[in-house]
Amino acid sequence: MLKKKIEKALNEQVNKELFSAYLYQSMAAQAEHDGLEGVANWMDVQAEEEMFHARKIYDYINEQGGRVVLEAIEKPEAEYESIKAMFEASLEHEQFITKSINDLVDLAKEENDHATEIFLQWYVTEQVEEEDNVGSILDKFELIGDAGNGIFMIDKELATRTFTPEEDEE
Ligand code: FEO
Repeated sequence: MLKKKIEKALNEQVNKELFSAYLYQSMAAQAEHDGLEGVANWMDVQAEEEMFHARKIYDYINEQGGRVVLEAIEKPEAEYESIKAMFEASLEHEQFITKSINDLVDLAKEENDHATEIFLQWYVTEQVEEEDNVGSILDKFELIGDAGNGIFMIDKELATRTFTPEEDEE
């Protein structure tokens, strides 16, 4: 059985993960409109991953006899001044999510909720990967620039990303 405090914090995390999906879908829409299909694909996959992150917490709350309550999802940014700015905003967002997960782990520890603490370990590891994924794309922008050929090459590479929930389970 989940303590009310933990249940509330987990529900808030579901909302943050759903917002993440909405945010990346908004980025995908801009990239699609700009003719950058690789970037759009990368953002589409990211949005799918975020739905998976939300669902995993949703299922956990239910498994623990808690009550999932869905709240309104904030409106995401619709227009970034460049694709590089879009990825910079992604990194900033992932850093915010990492902090939120770390705060949740701290709360689970304070409340002696060992099951939730263990459940959250998956997210701690996942956030390292999330930040690294975006960070390495930003490194490429630094190396090859974000105009003309540079963005063409990055777009081509990002077209290859696929959603693999099985790997996420590991
Ligand atoms: Fe679900 Fe990108 O953190």
